Formats: sequence, structure tokens, C-alpha cells
Amino acid sequence: MARIDLDLAHAYGPNPQRDEDYALLPLNFTFEDGGAYALLGPSGCGKTTLLNCISGLLRPSQGTIRFDGVDVTKASPQERNIAQVFQFPVIYDTMTVGENLAFPLRNRGVPADKVRERVGRVAEMLDLSASLDRRASGLAADAKQKISLGRGLVRQDVSAILFDEPLTVIDPHLKWQLRRKLKEIHHEFRLTLIYVTHDQTEALTFAEQVVVMSRGKAVQVGSADALFERPAHTFVGHFIGSPGMNFLPGHWRDGAIEVAGRRYLPELPPQTLAALQAAGDFKIGVRPEYLQLAPENDPQALPVRVERAQDIGTYWLVTATVANGETAMLRARLGTEAAALRTGDTAWLTAFNRHTCFYINEELVP
Ligand SMILES: Nc1ncnc2c1ncn2[C@@H]1O[C@H](COP(=O)(O)OP(=O)(O)OP(=O)(O)O)[C@@H](O)[C@H]1O
Ligand SMILES: [Mg+2]
Repeated sequence: MARIDLDLAHAYGPNPQRDEDYALLPLNFTFEDGGAYALLGPSGCGKTTLLNCISGLLRPSQGTIRFDGVDVTKASPQERNIAQVFQFPVIYDTMTVGENLAFPLRNRGVPADKVRERVGRVAEMLDLSASLDRRASGLAADAKQKISLGRGLVRQDVSAILFDEPLTVIDPHLKWQLRRKLKEIHHEFRLTLIYVTHDQTEALTFAEQVVVMSRGKAVQVGSADALFERPAHTFVGHFIGSPGMNFLPGHWRDGAIEVAGRRYLPELPPQTLAALQAAGDFKIGVRPEYLQLAPENDPQALPVRVERAQDIGTYWLVTATVANGETAMLRARLGTEAAALRTGDTAWLTAFNRHTCFYINEELVP
């Protein structure tokens, strides 16, 4: 397994000039040896482009890639010694399941007893032991994809294993199992794993570090917890969470924060206050999980008009609006206390607490 250093950018067309010309904007990042990473972002943000630069399927239009300090920018995928699992199964229909799993090892001249041992191990992990002697051709799509995963995992000598949305064809229940399996396998083998997905649940449960991408840019790299608690950019706040973070327009006026015509003086670090004062206008970010019903006129709470209160099963989702020239929509995840709320009611929601984040030009104020 290898440490992977990226210092690159990629444009598919010639002579890139503006940011929009780049599928990947200049990126300087290190994947540590043995880490489990996810590349997470919406369609077209550059995930596959980045993965293909790492594997060698694509040569970045500028910059370098190093594996353990060695420049591999010009090396082929074979030379880079990478295992890659794609969205759709890549297996040999004419072979048995066992032969499919053994193929990457036999291909590299691994001795037969080692092959048997390793194939047995990987088959066991993926619950394929009972079907090792079956022909692959008759299997359903998700069973075939399990074989693809197994083929990716079977070699121990690879620099890294790259997955590009490998669970797309898998049904939801099995998906959940396989995600957990991959996590276990990572724990056991300490492989460098890079996993592309646009599904936040998949990324957050699987990876130790998630690289959140937006329009060719890595906007934040962090643990699930960091992405949830302190989104570095409003995009991350929106994208992570269900529903995403709420944003309220805030202003600095006469020594206090003004939201919807009301004044607030939350306890904040002096440098945060100074930054808000200097900016004048900013956004206040608060997650639906951290909004709570408060008594009327609570100094940290915001009056809102309830638009809708829905029982989601494990929580109540309350949609509300803050009106005062700048209408902002809020979503709160509340407990059963929300059952009493009716459309048109005025409710008070605590907007300021230790989880509240502030954004100037979409960037988090430290
Ligand atoms: N071969 C190509 N030639 C030209 N442009 C491309 C090519 N492949 C991708 N692009 C463009 O580069 C950008 C990034 O694409 P990429 O496939 O890396 O995104 P992605 O994050 O993997 O998306 P998805 O989730 O849909 O797979 C997109 O604007 C896409 O249209
Ligand atoms: Mg893709």
C-alpha cells in the first residue's frame, strides 16, 4: 500500500483559461498510506476524473502524482499497481466464481496454495464461499458485483484500491451489508482505499476522511463529524445532512448580530466577532438537529412562522419561515413537542448555541 501525493489539475480541452475550463481545479492533497477515503460530491464535480488520474487511466493536464514519493505521473495503471472496481461488474462469465477471484493472483504468478488461501479468505468475507464452484454467468447483477469487489480486494500487493460507485447495482439491504464489510476489510488489511460516491451515507459510514467536491474543487476534507459540525463552506453544509444546514442572513449592527430585525449577542470567540463586524453581512448556519423550541422572547431564539410539521417516524420535521424583508426557510428536527405545532403558528427556535456556524462569502469563519 502506498501514500499518494497529488499536486495536479486537469482540463479535458486544450488551453484552459477560466475555472470552468477545468474538470479538476489545482489540487494539492495527500492520501495517507492505509487510510480509507471517500470522494463525495454531486454528478459532474470531478470524482471520476480524480480517480482516473490516480489510477493512471487519465493523465492530468498539469502537475504530478507520487506514490511513496516516486513520481508516477507518466506510469500506466499496471505500473502503478492499482486495483480498481467500477460501477458495473467486470468479471469473466465463462469462469467460476472462484476462478474469477483467483484471476488477479494467478495472473501475477502467485503460488497455488497462496491463491487458494487468499481466495478462501476474501470469499468468506463477501459470503461467496458457497458459490466458489458456480459459473459466474448465471448470477444476478449484485452477486456479480460482489465478485468484482472480491477481485479488487484479493491482491495484497497493490498500492491502493479504487472504487467508483461500486454499489450502484446492489439492492439497498445488501448495500448496507457490503458497506460494513468493506469497512471491516479495511480494518483488517489496512488497505489504502479511495471510494467515489455521491451518496453521503455511503461516504460517511465507510470513510475515515471524506473529500467533499464541488465543481472541480475539493471544498473540504474531514471526518464525518467535522463535516457535520463545522462545514468549511456553505456547499458542504447544504450537501451533508438530511435535510442540510439552514442558512440565515445576518448583519452586524451597533455591536450586535441582527437577524430578521432582532438583535442577538451570543457568546463567541473575539476573533469571530471581529470578523463578523468587519464583514457587515454574513450567513448564520445552523443544522436542523440543533434548532430547538424555546420560550417566547428567549434572547437566543428566533420567532418563525410554522409552515408544516411532519411526523417522520423517529423525529418531527418542522418547516418554518423567518420573515422580515429577507425571507429565509428553516428546517428543524424536533421531538414529539412539535406535534402541537400548526401551520401559521408562531414558534420560537433557538438559533444560537455552541453549534452555530458563521459564513462570510460562503466560507466558514474560524
Ligand atoms: N472524457 C471527457 N471529455 C470531456 N469532458 C469530460 C470527460 N469526462 C468528464 N468530463 C467533464 O468533466 C467534469 C467532471 O466529470 P466527472 O465524470 O469526473 O464527474 P463525476 O463527479 O464523476 O460525476 P458522476 O457522479 O456523474 O459520475 C464534467 O463536467 C464532465 O462533463
Ligand atoms: Mg463519475
